[in-house]
Amino acid sequence: MMINFWLILTTTCILTSPSSAETEQVRVALALFMKTLSLGSSIPREANWGWNESSDPCTDGWKGITCYSDAATVKKIVLDELNLTGAIDAAALCAAASVTVLSLNSNGVAGELPEDISKCSKLTHVYLHGNRLSGSLPVSLSRLKNLKRFDVSGNGISGGIPDFSRISGLLTFLAQNNRLNGSIPNFDFGNLEEFNVSNNDLSGAIPAGGGGLSVSRFLGNPLLCGPPLPNTCPPLPPPPPPPRKKSDSSKKDYFIYSGYGLIGVIVVVLIAFKVMKKTARREKEDAAAKGLRFQRDSGHDKLSGSSSDSKAGGGNRSEFSITPESGKNSSSLTVLSSPLMNGLRFEDLLRSPAELISRGRHGSLYKVTVDDGVNLAVKRIRDWEIGRNEFKIRMQRIDQFRHPNVMPIVAFYCSRQEKLLVYHFQENGSLFNLLHGPGNGGSFHWGSRLNLAAKIAEALAYMHQGLKGEGIAHGNLKSSNIFLSKEMEPLISEYGLQAGVGIHDESIETDVSSLGIVLLELLTGKVVQNNGMELARWVNSAIREEWTVEVFDKALVAEGASEERMVMLLQLALKCIDASLQLRPTVAEVARVIASIREQEEKSASFDSL
Ligand SMILES: *[C@@H]1O[C@H](CO)[C@@H](O)[C@H](O)[C@H]1NC(C)=O
Ligand SMILES: *[C@@H]1O[C@H](CO)[C@@H](O)[C@H](O)[C@H]1NC(C)=O
Ligand SMILES: *[C@@H]1O[C@H](CO)[C@@H](O)[C@H](O)[C@H]1NC(C)=O
Ligand SMILES: *[C@@H]1O[C@H](CO)[C@@H](O)[C@H](O)[C@H]1NC(C)=O
Repeated sequence: MMINFWLILTTTCILTSPSSAETEQVRVALALFMKTLSLGSSIPREANWGWNESSDPCTDGWKGITCYSDAATVKKIVLDELNLTGAIDAAALCAAASVTVLSLNSNGVAGELPEDISKCSKLTHVYLHGNRLSGSLPVSLSRLKNLKRFDVSGNGISGGIPDFSRISGLLTFLAQNNRLNGSIPNFDFGNLEEFNVSNNDLSGAIPAGGGGLSVSRFLGNPLLCGPPLPNTCPPLPPPPPPPRKKSDSSKKDYFIYSGYGLIGVIVVVLIAFKVMKKTARREKEDAAAKGLRFQRDSGHDKLSGSSSDSKAGGGNRSEFSITPESGKNSSSLTVLSSPLMNGLRFEDLLRSPAELISRGRHGSLYKVTVDDGVNLAVKRIRDWEIGRNEFKIRMQRIDQFRHPNVMPIVAFYCSRQEKLLVYHFQENGSLFNLLHGPGNGGSFHWGSRLNLAAKIAEALAYMHQGLKGEGIAHGNLKSSNIFLSKEMEPLISEYGLQAGVGIHDESIETDVSSLGIVLLELLTGKVVQNNGMELARWVNSAIREEWTVEVFDKALVAEGASEERMVMLLQLALKCIDASLQLRPTVAEVARVIASIREQEEKSASFDSL
């Protein structure tokens, strides 16, 4: 009973404030931090000064750690002059969110000061002088609101100085003897006790307030000018013309307008077509050749109709045609089953504001808000040589196999030149966003990832089974077309939309390897480039070097996810992309293995809570 309650308490604590007890999660993360920090050094790994996840940092005397008086949470980490030659893993460090002091002076610490350092929001002192840090200072430093002392002098740091003016309590900024460039941003010079940017590549005028400081704090920057330096700044160049506002919102507006534009053009085309149909039925094919067509205009897709003055009719009238077949009422929107969308017409789509969401190899995705505020996702498919009838049959066939984790098709539209597919818009975005967006998958826990993997595999297996007669596979599965429902359930979209349908076995094979890549992405948290083969190579080489743990997403390691089960999923993922096609499992087999890993996970979770 007691244990249970305690568990409930600690679990709640992990959720609300990771800093209230040095949980296993924090111990694992700190051990990882030390491991990364001491990489490449001659000190044997076992002797990481007691930093071992199976002991407690506060009570078991990890070197360099000072705890709060409750002996439960880490307050300071001071590891000066220890010949540390690795890198700073800020994500792991900041799992111990209570840390206020980080001091690694006079080591050989290399790499960049990571952006994630801002997650250690309690940091007041950061001392990193005399190391081999490179790269640039992360912009996120300006979010460390409690920072008082910051010293990175004597490293190889380049790039600009972030804006520290928002940190009102800053007392120390020491960055001399680096390769910082750009201009000096505003500091609250009146408040600073220590400031030195000597021997860098800084340029431009020293900001107001800096003039009162001694010149030795600025020396060694040939391009710096103004008081207290003796060289005066050149007269200002004439003010540039007011820059065009380039805020996010105006960018968004641009997309909305371009969406309107696109849709407006289609409306004009459509109305004109209707007029034409009524008044000039007799007029023959010569208009048919001119039609709706794609224009590639500085990288943007635009729909446009071609117009010409018709002499045959005598009038000075524009003529448009959508497709030769369009007179047979066959190119209108086909609404499949969606109670919400019954009565949705193609014209409704055209009238509604549209926003470009993404543009990919196989077409563009728009968010279209129809009359009653319902948001739809409209996929516009590019370059797909498929007959109208074939397309229609295919979509209807796919629609017959519904799975809760496959996004239902609301409607589709098909003319010779245009193929549109309509889904409900998912406000929670894609798996890609979840993993690589602002949160970086930090709150996307192992259990959820495993569940999601299981559901995707099951759904895909179900679709393969249902559509194997026609050989319709997904063809383009990736994290950016797996969306998340309101309940954060995965929804596979774009099933069966592969442009240039291959031989049927081939696209099934593709689905297996794509699924493997999605699994790798879930496990590593890494962005997949090209077809994912680079990621696969990297994972394979890490495993050969017996560095398996290094491949896993740090958030998973920090969370204390079961290494055993992560490795099982990893092995499965690698099988899916095996060079030898015969060794690759089917999607159904993949689904079974993931289900069994999930079962083990659940068993162990319920065992833990006994
Ligand atoms: C951590 O300590 C335990 C027991 O004290 C030991 O068995 C284990 O090898 C240590 N791990 C590391 C990584 O040093
Ligand atoms: C660091 O390395 C130097 C020279 O290799 C050695 O003299 C010194 O004892 C080392 N310090 C520590 C703490 O290991
Ligand atoms: C600063 O240096 C980086 C390369 O280290 C360069 O890309 C950047 O343009 C420089 N910035 C300025 C303002 O000179
Ligand atoms: C600033 O740093 C330079 C280079 O290390 C040093 O020569 C100078 O004395 C420092 N200035 C102050 C005021 O500490």
